[in-house]
Amino acid sequence: MHVVCPGSFDPVTNGHLDVISRAAVLYGQVTVAVLVNKGKSSLFTVEERIEMLQEVTADLEGQVQVTSFHGLLVDFCRDRGIVAIVKGLRAVSDFDYELQMAQMNHRLTDVETLFMATNPLYSFLSSSLVKDVATYGGDVSGLVPDVVLARLAERIATVWP
Ligand code: PNS
Repeated sequence: MHVVCPGSFDPVTNGHLDVISRAAVLYGQVTVAVLVNKGKSSLFTVEERIEMLQEVTADLEGQVQVTSFHGLLVDFCRDRGIVAIVKGLRAVSDFDYELQMAQMNHRLTDVETLFMATNPLYSFLSSSLVKDVATYGGDVSGLVPDVVLARLAERIATVWP
């Protein structure tokens, strides 16, 4: 079964990676789709985010592919024969908005949304928090893959020398 893990991934965290790898085990074929959102400022370009995702999913080669998308997620799914969207749920606070999106996406097409309970090790984790903590010198090792850790340090030093 071909599924999609969509998101901003600015940058990918160990929480994302956990969901992506579990989806690969369950469904066999996972497309990780990075949203191109011109209205939203980001720390990493879409190309950089894709590169990092490719590096950290390299061991799942053949099962995971990474690409970008813009427009409606359901159109992306239809064009690629993707039957389901897989989302991690960290806490009840994620649920309202995720349910709303799932129901809208189902209303638009017959694409299904499958929720995966986030590993409790990462239930407090988000890309925004990682960026915030790293910006002010906090230690985010263990929360993002090592390649991301290095890129974060490099980028933050350039943006806030
Ligand atoms: O990592 P994010 O930013 O929480 O991911 C949100 C994402 C990319 C899954 C969501 O914004 C999305 O699907 N955007 C594409 C546009 C779309 O289809 N909007 C209608 C959703 S009901």
